[in-house]
Amino acid sequence: MSHFLLLNGPNLSLLGQREPELYGSTTLDDIETRLGTLATERGHTLACFQSDAEHELVKRIHAAGDEHIDLILFNPAAFTHTSVVLRDALLAVGIPFIEVHLSNVAAREDFRQRSFFADIAVGTITGFGVTSYELALTAAERHLAK
Ligand code: DQA
Repeated sequence: MSHFLLLNGPNLSLLGQREPELYGSTTLDDIETRLGTLATERGHTLACFQSDAEHELVKRIHAAGDEHIDLILFNPAAFTHTSVVLRDALLAVGIPFIEVHLSNVAAREDFRQRSFFADIAVGTITGFGVTSYELALTAAERHLAK
C-alpha cells in the first residue's frame, strides 16, 4: 500500500472551462475523483490539493514530509517554468515525484520548454490530457514496486 499526493498548481481549478482545446473538458473535481477511485481500487491512498499560490503549495509539500507520503503526482502548471521555490521544497522533503502535464508542453511556446522540475523528477508525463494523470499513477506504482 502506498500513500500518494496529487498536487495541482495555478489555474487548474478552472479545468473544464479553461482553454478546452488545450486542456479538455474534464474538471479538476472529476480528475481527483477518478484518480482517487483508481488508487483505492489498487489498495492505495490518494490525497489531493490544488492552489494558485506558490507558498500554499510549498506548505503542502512540507506537510507531505510529515505524512509519510510515498510519492507526489505534481502538475505545477505555470510554476513549472518559473519556480525555484517549489523545486527547493521538493528537494528539501526528498519525496519522489512525477511531473504531469495535460498538454504536450514540448510542442508549445519557447517559454514552456524550460522545466524547473524535470531533472529532479522520477519522470515526466505530458500531452495525454486527463490520461496523463492515470499514466502517472501507474508509473508511480511501478516505480515504488521496484
Ligand atoms: C500545464 C502546462 C503549463 O505550461 C501551463 O502553464 C498550465 C498547464 C499542463 O498541464 O499542460 O497551466 O501544466
